[in-house]
Amino acid sequence: MIQPFNDDIDIIIPKDPVDFACTYFIKLAKEAIDERGVFTVALSGGSTPKALYNKLKAHAKDLDWGNVLLFFSDERATPPTDPDSNYHMAMTNGFNDLPVAKHHIFRMKAETDIEKGALAYEKNIKEHVPEESFDLVLLGMGDDGHTASLFPGTKALNELKRYVVENEVPQKNTWRMTFTYPLIRKARNIMFLATGAGKAEMIKKVLTDDKGTYPAAQVRSDLCKVLWVLDKDSSDLI
Ligand code: 6PG
Repeated sequence: MIQPFNDDIDIIIPKDPVDFACTYFIKLAKEAIDERGVFTVALSGGSTPKALYNKLKAHAKDLDWGNVLLFFSDERATPPTDPDSNYHMAMTNGFNDLPVAKHHIFRMKAETDIEKGALAYEKNIKEHVPEESFDLVLLGMGDDGHTASLFPGTKALNELKRYVVENEVPQKNTWRMTFTYPLIRKARNIMFLATGAGKAEMIKKVLTDDKGTYPAAQVRSDLCKVLWVLDKDSSDLI
């Protein structure tokens, strides 16, 4: 059951967090399509969502996927064929097997001229996402408390106007493309999926961070409470 954690955050610790996240994704998608004719979703990267994307494959017939618009909340500076690419991860772990229209899949082109790619991506969002308000932004959390590619101490954390930016990440010696807080906070629903004992320490810090130390702790929406989907291990210290 979803429980309030504070005024801005709800948490849920389901027996099967991936099953819950999948059911919740489909529920939000059906509601959005019923209400507005489309479901706009920004997928998260990394490894945690692989199981969710694989589970969604089983729902190919449960949703009008032709009305789903697929975006990504961040991307590495790699080509779409690179196993390190979040696009590659999402497509090969589920979305290649779902009938999403090709012209409804918006890949972040971060492998060349990342600044130009970020400006073009923002233009795509303004053109295709009603009021630039995603029906669902999926997010993960890194061990350092980053989310999307909003890493501690990086420039993108301070972006107050642009929705998508190129972000230099010295701690990874790379550049990333990422959603910014102004875009994330316009979302109708935000779901973090953070599981496993390895996240427990940082989950405790992030969920109790009132000094703005950790990027994931700064995620808020003007339209909804942020939902953290945890498991027994990742919620062990809260
Ligand atoms: C990325 C992700 C990132 C991810 C966290 C957690 O590009 O790496 O978008 O924000 O969600 O790093 O990653 P794991 O799920 O692999 O722990």
